[in-house]
Amino acid sequence: MLAAGKLAVRGLALCHQSRVHLRAGDMRDFDYGIQFDRIILPYNGLNCLLNRRDTLRCLKCVKRHLAPGGEFIFDVWLADRFHQDASASAYHDDPGPILALTHRSQTWDVFEKSRLRSRLQRLDVTYTYVSREKGTEVVIQISQRYAPAAEHRVLLQAVGLRVQATYGDFAQRRLGRSAPFLIVRAI
Ligand SMILES: C[S@@+](CC[C@H](N)C(=O)[O-])C[C@H]1O[C@@H](n2cnc3c(N)ncnc32)[C@H](O)[C@@H]1O
Repeated sequence: MLAAGKLAVRGLALCHQSRVHLRAGDMRDFDYGIQFDRIILPYNGLNCLLNRRDTLRCLKCVKRHLAPGGEFIFDVWLADRFHQDASASAYHDDPGPILALTHRSQTWDVFEKSRLRSRLQRLDVTYTYVSREKGTEVVIQISQRYAPAAEHRVLLQAVGLRVQATYGDFAQRRLGRSAPFLIVRAI
C-alpha cells in the first residue's frame, strides 16, 4: 500500500506533495500526537480487522485523533442481506474466472474460492491468479470480517462517535437493502 501511495503522491501537483506524509502502522494501535479534521478508511479497510475487539481498538484510535467536530468516513460492502441469508458455514468455489487482468504484458485469469463462517461473520477468500502465457500461479489469501450496518453503529457509539449520515453508494444514494456499499460519516 505504501508503494502504491508513493506512486499516487508523485502524481500530485508539487505544492501538494510535501503536505502528504506516508506512515506504516497498525490501525489498531497508532498515536501520532496530532488531530485531524477528517480521517478516512476506504475500500473495506475496516473488514481487515477480524474481531470486535480489534475493530474497537481501531475506532478508539480514530476518535482520539479527531479534532473537535472532525469526521470519520469509511466504506465497506453492505453485508446486511448476506448476513441474514448466510448459512452457518459454507464453501463457495467459482468454477470460472471472476475476471481477467493484464499486468506487464501478461494476462491473468483470477479465480475465487471462499469459506464462510457466519457465526464469526468471517470470510476467508483465496484468489488464484493464472497466467495465460506461462501457466504460472500466484495464490493470495484474504480474510475479512463483515458486519451489518447496525453493528457498525453500535461500535461507533461505544467509542463516542455518532453516525451523521449513511449512503448506499458513492453518488450518495439512499442506503437501501440492496445497496452495494455502506458508506458512513460519523462525528
Ligand atoms: C481492503 S485494503 C484497502 C486498501 C486501501 N484503503 C484502498 O482504498 O485501496 C485493506 C488494507 O489494509 C491493510 N491492513 C490490514 N490490517 C491492517 C492493520 N491492522 N493496520 C493497518 N493496515 C492494515 C491491508 O494490508 C490492506 O492493504
